[in-house]
Amino acid sequence: MDTESHSSGATKVSPRSPQLVRIFDTTLRDGEQSPGATMTLDEKLRIARKLEALGVDVIEAGFPAASQGELESVREIASVVSECEVAGLCRTREQDIEASWQALSAAKKPRLHVFIATSKLHMEHKLKLTPVQVLEEVRRGVKHCASFAGSRAAASGSAPSVEFSAEDATRTELGFLKEVFACAIENGAKVLNIPDTVGYTMPNEYTHIVSEILGVVKASGKTDVIISTHCHNDLGLAVANSIAAIMAGARQVECCVNGIGERAGNAALEEIVMALKVRKDLIGCDTRINTRELMNVSKLVSQVTGLAVAASKPIVGRNAFAHESGIHQHGMLRDRRTYEIMVPEEIGLTESRMVLGKHSGRAALTNRLNELGYRLSGAQLEQVFERFKRLADRKKSIYDEDLTALVADDVFSVPVRFELVSVESRSGTQIAPWARVTVRIDGEEHTAEAGGNGPVNAVVQALKECTGTREVHMDEYHIDALSGGSDAQGKVAIAISADGIVSRGQGTDMDVVIASAKAFVAALNHRAYQLELTKPQPAANA
Ligand code: KIV
Ligand code: ZN
Repeated sequence: MDTESHSSGATKVSPRSPQLVRIFDTTLRDGEQSPGATMTLDEKLRIARKLEALGVDVIEAGFPAASQGELESVREIASVVSECEVAGLCRTREQDIEASWQALSAAKKPRLHVFIATSKLHMEHKLKLTPVQVLEEVRRGVKHCASFAGSRAAASGSAPSVEFSAEDATRTELGFLKEVFACAIENGAKVLNIPDTVGYTMPNEYTHIVSEILGVVKASGKTDVIISTHCHNDLGLAVANSIAAIMAGARQVECCVNGIGERAGNAALEEIVMALKVRKDLIGCDTRINTRELMNVSKLVSQVTGLAVAASKPIVGRNAFAHESGIHQHGMLRDRRTYEIMVPEEIGLTESRMVLGKHSGRAALTNRLNELGYRLSGAQLEQVFERFKRLADRKKSIYDEDLTALVADDVFSVPVRFELVSVESRSGTQIAPWARVTVRIDGEEHTAEAGGNGPVNAVVQALKECTGTREVHMDEYHIDALSGGSDAQGKVAIAISADGIVSRGQGTDMDVVIASAKAFVAALNHRAYQLELTKPQPAANA
């Protein structure tokens, strides 16, 4: 039984050992077909390596016949990946198959993925072929792919596995679909993919289609042939349909990280993997995925494609493990299983996030302040709670940074450890940015100078040098004009961090470089005070 996922205790554990479902990742092929998600070769290689570390079984690297560049990138990916199969997509046309095979020449475990559309709509309007002609294409295309198995084996390379997809399968007349797949099996296909190309099917309908194709496989007597699912998300059912197919006997699932892909995307890899893991009791299947890498892969794909992950996206969204309601937070503090069906560590997060807001109670606030290292007296806590509630009425979510600012700035006045004495700065089109600052520290003046990639950067470097705070990192920098017009004062707000402590500061001046220096010094004072507040207190009776 799964030991990490939080079990509700509502269902029985399957007595049989779980069946393996292979994860066929198509982020680099179908995922790249998301509008605007085109990736460079270098980016594809980074993702391919991460997918390999994640433990996917197959990486679909591209569609080599699309262009010479695509062919080269599939070739490169095939040469760096060794643990998983690398697939190249091809139509049944001879040139496509040859291009894919050429691109996979360096693959340790090549897979030829050949497809043709089988629905009436596609055959008539797109392919302009009759069903008989399409069947002939399937026979010829699959046979061509399978012929490389013999030639590679003879040359002692790895023989390719052959996958056949019937594009738009879910809108194909079922009798014809069965004929098509029987033909693919007969000619050497080992994986039969049933794409829901336009995200049209429903779980019970898809279950029926998969069962019927499973019947075709059984009738062929080929025990090494498996069924694959490939679902698009136009009606938001891609994951549900994929799971339905697995429950009906599919043993490969095609999916994309973050659910990216054409139109509304493909089934999301992380959602399928976690559904199989969390509901192993019901589904009885598992994957080889190292789920602790899911968050990392998701971040990389989002960063590379520029496609942001929605906050409420299951598994990898910013709010997927965040709790705001007071009742939920109270339950979570008692026992995480009350509102979490899996632990965040399983997907590579370090902890659940309690998002404090107007629904949060005293218990949640006290708990978070303790976690942040603040040891406050009962009266101080009351004071913070009052201020917190007032802030929560104005601001929807109260983050750690707001809390620390509230504790350090609103409730207590921050003692001045660093005092900005002077700032000199130079920059211009022909002058390298430079700054010199003087800061009074515990009553004594210190001066330092530094260069930077801009005047603000130079002044910040000089301040770090002068105050001995090179470890702090500037996380946020916002600048606003206090009024309209070019004579407006600049208001700078910044956040700095080091060792997990986030500190904020603000500064105002007619000169934005000086406003920035004031904000940075304010943040340093805030930080010094936070460090003081979080120091372990001596025991009362010591
Ligand atoms: O959605 C689809 O039908 C496809 C096939 C090419 C597998 O992506
Ligand atoms: Zn697709």
